[in-house]
Amino acid sequence: MSKEFDVLVIGGGPGGYVAAIRAAQLGFKTACCESNPYADPKGEPRLGGTCLNVGCIPSKALLHTSHLFEEAGHGFEAQGITVGTPKIDVAKMIARKSGIVDQLTGGIKGLFKKNKVTLLNGHGSFVAQAGEGWQVKVGDEVVTAKQVIVATGSKARHLPGIPVDNKIVCDNVGALDIDAVPKKLAIIGAGVIGLEMGSVWRRLGADVTILEAMPDFLAAADLDVAKEALKVFTKQGLKLQLGVKIGEVKAAKKGVSIAYTDKDGAEQKLDADRLIVSVGRVPNTDGLNAEAVGLKLNDRGMIEVDGHCRTNLPGVWAVGDVVRGPMLAHKAMEEAVMVAELMAGQAGHCNFDTVPWVIYTSPEIAWVGKTEQQLKGEGVAYKVGKIPFLANGRALGMGETTGFVKMIADAATDRILGVHIIGAGASELISEAVVAMEFAGCSEDLARICHAHPTLSEVVHEAALACDKRPLHF
Ligand code: FAD
Ligand code: NAI
Repeated sequence: MSKEFDVLVIGGGPGGYVAAIRAAQLGFKTACCESNPYADPKGEPRLGGTCLNVGCIPSKALLHTSHLFEEAGHGFEAQGITVGTPKIDVAKMIARKSGIVDQLTGGIKGLFKKNKVTLLNGHGSFVAQAGEGWQVKVGDEVVTAKQVIVATGSKARHLPGIPVDNKIVCDNVGALDIDAVPKKLAIIGAGVIGLEMGSVWRRLGADVTILEAMPDFLAAADLDVAKEALKVFTKQGLKLQLGVKIGEVKAAKKGVSIAYTDKDGAEQKLDADRLIVSVGRVPNTDGLNAEAVGLKLNDRGMIEVDGHCRTNLPGVWAVGDVVRGPMLAHKAMEEAVMVAELMAGQAGHCNFDTVPWVIYTSPEIAWVGKTEQQLKGEGVAYKVGKIPFLANGRALGMGETTGFVKMIADAATDRILGVHIIGAGASELISEAVVAMEFAGCSEDLARICHAHPTLSEVVHEAALACDKRPLHF
C-alpha cells in the first residue's frame, strides 16, 4: 500500500530537515527521505547533509583544534606562557571531529521524532503527478504527497582528468579525514574550502600551496578585505599562486604531481603528498527523474525557482544548494522555513540581500550586503567608516589586533548598504550588521546604540561613528 503524506521532503540536509521540522510544526503530515551516502557504522540513514557530515561542522571542528595547536606553538609565548613544543595526534583530532558529527546527526533524528516527522531511508525520484499531488519513489516503495520540497543539495565539482580517490586526491569528503599531516599539501582553488582546509593543515605543519585560476584573490569579498586577507595569509605561510592554469595531474600511491602554467606563462610543476580539489560545487539533480515529470533545470543543472522557491510544477518547491544563490547552510534553512510557512498560507519571507558570508580562517572574514566595488559599479553614492581592531582595547588584550571593520552607508539616506569585517570574532560580529540591515537601519542607528566595553563589538560601533566622521577612539 502506498504511503500518503501532506508533505514529502527529498533530502535531509539543512534545507531538507529544517523544511520537514517546520512543516510538521505547522500541522502537515510530513516525511523526509534521505539517500544516506555518508558512512554510518550502523548503516542507518544519517541526517544533516553536507553541512553536518562533510561540511560546515567537521571543518569548523578541525579549524578549532588546529587554531589551538598554532596558539600553543606560537601564540602563548608572547603572553608569558611556556608549554614546550606541542604535538598533534591527528587520529584523536579526527575522532573528536567525527564524534561531534555523530552527536549532531543523531540529534536531528531526535528532532524528527519530537516533531513527528517520518524518516524514510532511500533515494527519492519523481514518478508522476497523482491528482493534486505527486508520486515519488523512495527506495523500493512509492510514496504519495500533496506537496514535495526538493532539498537534494550539492556535491563537489571535480576536474576532468583529476580522479578523486579521497586518499591522495581529495575533495571536501577526504580533506576532512586526512590521517596524517602531509609534508606538502597542494590545493586547487583558493575559495572558501581551499582557504579553510589550507589553514587547518598549514597550522599543523604542512607546507601548503594553493593554485587559483582567477587573477584576483577572493573576488566576491570587498577589495580592502581581500587585500588584507592576501597579505595576512601569505605572512602566515600559505603559498597562494593566482592566475594559474592547471595542466596534467599525475597521482600515484605516495603523492601527486601537478603541472601548471603560472600567471607569467611559465610552465611549473608542484609535487605534493596530497591534493585537495576545491573548485566549487554542483547541484544534486541527477537521479531525481526531473525530466520525466518536466521539472525545469537551469543551464547549470540547478532547479529553477522563483523568489519563493516555487518550481514550474504545481506543489513542487526546491530549496538550498540545489537552487540559485549562495551555497550556504543558513540560506538553505531560511528558504526551508519560508516554503513551509507559505504552504501553510502564512507570509513566508527570505531576504536574500541580508544573507551573511563567513570564512572561518584566522583572522575570520565576514560580510553582508554590497561591496565597495559593487556600489561603484552601480553608481551609488556612499560613505565609508573603517576602524582597525588595533584601536580596540579588548582586541589588544586578546592579542588579536589584525584587521578592521568597514561599514558602507548610503551617502544621501545613511542606510547601511554593506558591512565587511576581517578580524577576530568576525563570524559573531556580523550578526549585528545583519540585524541592522534587516530593519533598514542607518549607520546613525548603530552609532547611537550602547555597546558593552571592552568588547570587539565596539569596533562595529566605531565604524558606524566613522561613517559620520566622528569616531571617538580612532
Ligand atoms: P545538502 O546539505 O547537500 O543536503 C542534501 C541531502 O540530500 C544530502 O544528505 C543528500 O544525501 C540528500 N540527497 C540528495 N539527493 C537525494 C535524493 N534523490 N533522495 C534522497 N536524498 C537525497 N555553509 C555555511 O553556511 N557555513 C559553513 O561554514 C559551511 N562550511 C562548509 C564546509 C565545507 C567543506 C562544505 C563542502 C560546505 C560548507 N558549507 C557551509 C555549505 C553547506 O554545507 C551547504 O550550503 C548546505 O549543506 C546546503 O544544504 P542543503 O540541504 O541544500 O544540501
Ligand atoms: P568556491 O566557489 O568558494 O571556490 C572555488 C575556487 O576555485 C574559486 O576561487 C575558483 O576561481 C577556483 N577554481 C575554479 N576552477 C579552477 C581551476 N580549474 N583551477 C584553479 N582554480 C579554480 O568553492 P569551494 O571552495 O569548493 O567551496 C564550495 C562552496 O561551499 C562555497 O562556495 C560555499 O558556498 C560553500 N562553503 C562555505 C563555507 C563557509 O560558509 N564558511 C566553507 C566552505 C564551503
